[in-house]
Amino acid sequence: MILQDRITAAAEYLLEKVALRPEIALVLGSGLGDYADTLDESVKIPYRDIPNFPQPTVEGHTGAFVFGKKQGKPVVVAQGRVHYYEGLPMQEITLPIRVLAAMGVKTLVLTNAAGGVNLSYKPGTLMLIADHINFSGANPLIGPNLEKFGPRFPDVSDLYTAALRERIKTRAAAADIPLAEGVYLMCSGPNYETPAEIRAFRALGADAVGMSTVPEALVAGHSGMQVVGVSCITNMAAGVLPVKLNHAEVVETAAKVHDQFHDLVDVILQSL
Ligand code: HPA
Repeated sequence: MILQDRITAAAEYLLEKVALRPEIALVLGSGLGDYADTLDESVKIPYRDIPNFPQPTVEGHTGAFVFGKKQGKPVVVAQGRVHYYEGLPMQEITLPIRVLAAMGVKTLVLTNAAGGVNLSYKPGTLMLIADHINFSGANPLIGPNLEKFGPRFPDVSDLYTAALRERIKTRAAAADIPLAEGVYLMCSGPNYETPAEIRAFRALGADAVGMSTVPEALVAGHSGMQVVGVSCITNMAAGVLPVKLNHAEVVETAAKVHDQFHDLVDVILQSL
């Protein structure tokens, strides 16, 4: 089945199954997955029930859309992000974003865990993504253009909508939530970067490095959505400190800033 038909079939299934029509969607990275538990009147639809949907390959990560209300606004949370390093093509890992667009979602909030490249950052820094560098070696928009969504050559010069970032920064400051702003660089992973790569990325203008977000942001932008991105700096990137990188540190730091991260997502939703 061609990609467009799979997207349409999945969107039709969900529109029939769920009464809410959210214009805001959230994709939550490491450490923030439980935000979906704070929704009111929530309805969970597992990916395995949705026709033609990609299934996350990591054990214990059953994907699902959770529909519900937050601050009285209808929202949908995509639980169980699929990463490019898991081996599926980028068109597959971003299919949930296409389906959200087909259902009428207008704003996509993306969060992730990332390594700090900017030397003024510390583990626990929250960074609003101002722009990105796609160093993944792939692009989800390669292939026949999906004309129903957007043009062959989309403009992405304001992908992480500047006007929205200004509102978020003002509200975060008022709520006493420290918020950096910088450039996110995506590598494919799954290995962490080398110290030489991190030095090169710093020279290129990167402030944070990670293994997600860019494919989803590109597909959302192509589909005409506005995008908000937030990185939780869970560790300093390779070579910055004389320590080995490991996933346990990523999980531990994400857990430490969990409450502040929740508050920031609340502030973002108030800003929309
Ligand atoms: N590099 C890439 N991805 C990451 C890192 C990192 O240092 N930390 C969390 N995700």
